[in-house]
Order: sequence, then structure tokens, then C-alpha cells
Amino acid sequence: MEVIVEKNYEEMSKIAAELIAELIKNKPNAVIGLATGSTPLGTYNELIRMHKEEGLDFSKVITFNLDEYVGLHPCHSRSYHYFMKENLFKHINIKPENTHVPDGIAPDILKFCEQYENDIKNAGSIDIQLLGIGSNGHIAFNEPGSSLGSTTRVKTLDSKTIEDNARFFDNRDEVPKYAITMGIGTIMGAKKLILLASGKNKASAIATTVEGPITAMVPATIVQLHPKAIIIIDKLAATKLTREFPAVLGTLQGKGRARDN
Ligand code: GLP
Repeated sequence: MEVIVEKNYEEMSKIAAELIAELIKNKPNAVIGLATGSTPLGTYNELIRMHKEEGLDFSKVITFNLDEYVGLHPCHSRSYHYFMKENLFKHINIKPENTHVPDGIAPDILKFCEQYENDIKNAGSIDIQLLGIGSNGHIAFNEPGSSLGSTTRVKTLDSKTIEDNARFFDNRDEVPKYAITMGIGTIMGAKKLILLASGKNKASAIATTVEGPITAMVPATIVQLHPKAIIIIDKLAATKLTREFPAVLGTLQGKGRARDN
């Protein structure tokens, strides 16, 4: 696991976008796993800039999103379909048929989940999976207690997640109670993971993810087992790393990027 501490959110976003752009340049038909939430927005903005100013070509890129709320129509302004369209897809030259976001209104959700897993396999598996992290340590909507080998399925949202995500809705009661999410096993099947976190309220989750024991109660800790996991965080999200970490101290003292393997 590689930990990269950047001085702020902008730098964190830039390095994540650079890694994705490098993949696309080397493999134009790359399969990229995408995340929602506020954390990846800077990365998406940088990818849009690269497309517009540097001609980064998404015409053959295939994407699979991590999750979607059950019951929200793709046109609903809080659905992850809508989020992806507004914040990335409509600004780049990706083909709509190459983008995949779980269908929160699928008539047969179990069948849909099986199909989503098959679609990922048939695409040749995910080259880079982008991840955020919940303040409770969830990845995608794999809440504490999720099976570490799980595949795409429906999960009940944790009360902490509902509380955290209520800011995107008019009130807490409007937050859906269920979501379709790639499983932890699905995520671990990606060839490379990039986990992003920014800000103080992610510091505890990041400390446990990087330094804690692997446990289903903090699903993100599973990334410790991935052979190619890169954790890119800003210095606020790094504040609770307790291990002796001179590189991080270097960054905190303003000496630039810190890396540790
Ligand atoms: C949601 C998503 C996660 C995301 C998390 C953190 O719960 N399902 O994939 O990582 O929010 O969101 P934010 O980046 O807004 O903190």
C-alpha cells in the first residue's frame, strides 16, 4: 500500500487525475471504476480540464460506478446517475453506452446485481478503481459489518451514512435507506485502487484504514491486502496517522509531497 500525502485538496485531486490520465494514454480502452461524493469532484474537474485543454480522449474508455441509491430514478437530482452526468460525463467525449451506473429502479434488483458483476468481468475487469471513504470507514456503500468477500448487492445504509449524506437532500428523511453497491470482493478485483480522502472528518477513518487491523467493521481496511493500492490524502486527513511517518512530517512542514510504501 502506498500512502501519498498532498498539501491540500487541489493537489490530491491533481495527482489522482494524473494517474487516471496516464492509464488512459497507455490504454485508450481502459476500464475505470468511478466514485461519487464530494471527494472525487476535484479529480473529475481536472480530468475535464485535461480533456478540454490537452485532448485527453475518453472515446474508448469504459466506466463502472460503485453504487446507486435504491428507488431514485436516474433523472433524480440526488441520484448518482445524475451526479455522474452533471459532474463528468456531459463534459467529456465518453460514449453513454460505455458508462455503467447501478440501476436503482431495476425491476429485478437481484438479477441486476448479478448482471453488473458479469458486465465488469466481460469488460476485462477494472483497471483503476477510484474510491472515497465514509467517515465510518465504508467504501462504496459497503457499511461496517459488510462481508469482505461480498459482490454487488443491496445494502441497508448505516445511520452515520444517512446523517453524512443528508446534506445532499432537503432533510434526513429523504435520504434513501438502501443502495446497490459493488461488493468489497468486486472492488478488490480491480487491478489498482486509488482511495482519496480530504479533511479532518476523514482523519480517524484514514488512520484505521492505514494502520488498523483489517476488519469488516471498517471495510476500507481491506485495501491493505490489495497489491496495488494507493491512498492519496491531504494533510488534514493525515493528522491521525500515529505511526512514525517522517515523510508525512515532511509534508506537514511544507516540504511538499510525502510518499510511503
Ligand atoms: C457516499 C458514497 C461513497 C463515498 C462517501 C464519501 O456514501 N457511497 O462512495 O466515498 O459517500 O463521500 P464524500 O466524498 O462526500 O465525503
